[in-house]
Amino acid sequence: MYTKATSGDIQITGWRMIIVKRVSTPSASTVKGGKTGLTESKAEGGSSSGVNSNQVLVAYFSHSGNTRVIANQIHESIGGGIFEIMAVDPYPGDYGDVVEQARKELQAGYKPELKAKVENMGSYDVVFVGYPNWWGTIPRPVASFLSSYDLTGKTVVPFCTHEGSGLGRSVTDIKGLCPQSVIPEGIAVRGRNVKTAKNEVSAWLRKIGLRGE
Ligand SMILES: Cc1cc2nc3c(=O)[nH]c(=O)nc-3n(C[C@H](O)[C@H](O)[C@H](O)COP(=O)(O)O)c2cc1C
Repeated sequence: MYTKATSGDIQITGWRMIIVKRVSTPSASTVKGGKTGLTESKAEGGSSSGVNSNQVLVAYFSHSGNTRVIANQIHESIGGGIFEIMAVDPYPGDYGDVVEQARKELQAGYKPELKAKVENMGSYDVVFVGYPNWWGTIPRPVASFLSSYDLTGKTVVPFCTHEGSGLGRSVTDIKGLCPQSVIPEGIAVRGRNVKTAKNEVSAWLRKIGLRGE
């Protein structure tokens, strides 16, 4: 049973008992005006990355902005490409409605059509995949994204934001969709902590060998 919530309302149980507040951050497609949703750049710290930034893509889905904050932190740290995964049909802004739609989509195994495609996926060796934990796992647009490419031999790095469930079963589900990929340890950041997570994110990138220093 859900209560309808608009921005600033309080939900009722578990991870649903959260204050809904949209984080306003530029999306990948608006950062530098790319029409494809893909933006490429070098890392802030020059050669501090443990990998060649040309071979890194940060792909993310974000409904209310939290995951986008982490995606931007990873992108600033490593460089490479950043791509926002967006469904052709946008999700409702109303919290109760999106929760219900996401539940139905998950149950049905639905894979929504996506707005844009990464044309040069073959040139990336490392693909970060970011998402909010939805019903304990990846939102369905992320399932569409992972199913759209041959990620054999690539390193697929999960990161998520959540309100209590951490990565949930998302990594298991990602492994199911990318059985031939290398999947290092992911990171889960609580939604309310995203803006102060930069050090935690850097430490995680070092731990999994994707950032030097
Ligand atoms: C449809 C939906 C389902 C969610 N399911 C969960 C969940 O199972 N566990 C959890 O901890 N948080 C859950 N949340 C909370 C989000 O994971 C959390 O608010 C996240 O930071 C939102 O990221 P975003 O701003 O990038 O969309 C859910 C939120 C929505 C909208």
